[in-house]
Amino acid sequence: MKFRHLGRSGLMVSEISYGNWITHGSQVEEETARECVRAALDEGITTFDTADVYAATKAEEVLGRALEGVRRESLEICTKVYWPTGAGPNDRGLSRKHITESIHGSLRRLKTDYIDLYQAHRFDYETPLEETLKTFDDLVRQGKVLYIGVSEWTAEQIAQALKIADELGLDRLVSNQPQYSMLWRVIEAEVVPLSEKEGVGQIVWSPIAQGVLTGKYLPGRPPPAGSRATDPAGGGFISRMINEDMLTRVQELRPIAGDLGLTMAQLAVAWVLQNPNVASAIVGATRPEQVRDNVKAAGVKLDAEALKRVDDILGPVVERDPAKTVSPAKRP
Ligand SMILES: NC(=O)c1ccc[n+]([C@@H]2O[C@H](COP(=O)([O-])OP(=O)(O)OC[C@H]3O[C@@H](n4cnc5c(N)ncnc54)[C@H](OP(=O)(O)O)[C@@H]3O)[C@@H](O)[C@H]2O)c1
Repeated sequence: MKFRHLGRSGLMVSEISYGNWITHGSQVEEETARECVRAALDEGITTFDTADVYAATKAEEVLGRALEGVRRESLEICTKVYWPTGAGPNDRGLSRKHITESIHGSLRRLKTDYIDLYQAHRFDYETPLEETLKTFDDLVRQGKVLYIGVSEWTAEQIAQALKIADELGLDRLVSNQPQYSMLWRVIEAEVVPLSEKEGVGQIVWSPIAQGVLTGKYLPGRPPPAGSRATDPAGGGFISRMINEDMLTRVQELRPIAGDLGLTMAQLAVAWVLQNPNVASAIVGATRPEQVRDNVKAAGVKLDAEALKRVDDILGPVVERDPAKTVSPAKRP
């Protein structure tokens, strides 16, 4: 495994992180979840990503049990707050009340005294940014949270938060968690340049485009049994990418991976890690073999010719519009 600094902070994260969205507490049984976590640890992954909302809080419980007994100092545990965790109007968003209540639930479920990286899962237009940042800062002072970050915030929102933190002497954001893959490059125009300047690192999600970039979804064929596209919880999220043009182009990436001696999944994960502003790629898995496959992308260098071949094939289907980074106008 290779490690990178998270933004300009002193924290090191593993180039590959393990995330449990859709899988733990939902798509996979607990025993399989444990095997995946075991495989991640065996392969040198130290950074684990979850959220209070995943599987309606069950994902944190499963991860907490799977990591029990592992030396705490050898792990970076990251979780998030914003999406609803209950039916009430205060069970969501980034208010002082919800953040304070949510962190205590996350600590309990993850069986830990502190969270290494606590992230605002989206921007909350209904809470003053000062309220959120002061609450995060309080959690850092209390030792419940070591670093703070955000997820899917625009460059403007990140800049605004950094400005307030500097003015008020509050802890600064060290990370953003955006979607980023060969197919989804919306952070490149604005978020990455701002982040590079300000020392914010990206921990990117869905680097394999939820499985699409493994090439296992074939054009004109039904999705393979047991894959995310067939899962009741996951199917809706992946459907945007299951179209003839996209899947045909993805198959054309095969010779590139082959020439480099990589699997398609490794090529996809290695691709996001070529961006120096990316600190880590979070991969999900429903089987331990997938973790063992994906992790081999750490440390892989792709040359300019390989990158150009990827661009030539995917060009027309790559999403680059920074306006695709959105948070709900009203809390969900
Ligand atoms: N901040 C946010 O808003 C946000 C949003 C989404 C995700 N995330 C984070 O990012 C993490 C990763 O997201 P993701 O699960 O969408 O990422 P991904 O790594 O792009 O996709 C993972 C899925 O692809 C399939 N897969 C993975 N490796 C494979 C391989 N080698 N061969 C074949 N299939 C393979 C598996 O699904 P099947 O076996 O079921 O096909 C697996 O669950 C999440 O767990 C979460 O921590 C954050």
